[in-house]
Amino acid sequence: MQAKRVAETEVRMAQVMTPNDANVLGKVFGGSILALIDLTASATSSKFAGRICVTAAFDRVDFLEPVEIGELVELDGFVSYVGRTSVEVTISVHATRLVTGARRHVNTARVTMVAVEDGKPVEVPRLICETREEKLRFLAGKLRRELRVERTADMTALTKQIEGLSESELDNLLGSKERICDHLRAN
Ligand SMILES: CC(C)(COP(=O)(O)OP(=O)(O)OC[C@H]1O[C@@H](n2cnc3c(N)ncnc32)[C@H](O)[C@@H]1OP(=O)(O)O)[C@@H](O)C(=O)NCCC(=O)NCCS
Repeated sequence: MQAKRVAETEVRMAQVMTPNDANVLGKVFGGSILALIDLTASATSSKFAGRICVTAAFDRVDFLEPVEIGELVELDGFVSYVGRTSVEVTISVHATRLVTGARRHVNTARVTMVAVEDGKPVEVPRLICETREEKLRFLAGKLRRELRVERTADMTALTKQIEGLSESELDNLLGSKERICDHLRAN
């Protein structure tokens, strides 16, 4: 399978937000932006892998500011990290007010996609990181993956610990200003 350079993985999508995308406050519904992010991740990863890729996980997504109906939303995706069968796509989202041309960054999202054939994960090409920025982004993706595994293990263990507490210990924790994880790790 032929390795690909980061620059070859880029995909750009754009869409004007219509009243169909509105939430009850008349701004763009977060789910409409998430759907566009998912579509961009799908196109970017499938083009890179030369196979259909499915969405395995969204990393944390922060909505920095509202997007207005009538604005042009542009999504720029590229492959930032690859494992054996998974591909992390980074997508930056900008909104442009069409009349003034004012453009602002509203979101950066990372989505893990997995290449599949007959529903089973299959290998993806190697990613060639040439610039310092590309190397840093690849290592950050690997770090994110490692920390995700640690965090999931931590959350499982600490939740189990909470479930083992007595009623009075639960009440003490509910009334305490102490950080729950500090308390649990100390006991
Ligand atoms: C994603 C999916 C193919 C993974 O299948 P699986 O049998 O769990 O595969 P594995 O455990 O072998 O993992 C395959 C790769 O996916 C990664 N992966 C699996 N679940 C993940 C998750 N929740 N978050 C991040 N990465 C994940 C693994 O780390 C592994 O990466 P690597 O090969 O680069 O090391 C499977 O869970 C699936 O089909 N999910 C539904 C996908 C879908 O329908 N999405 C749309 C939702 S409507």
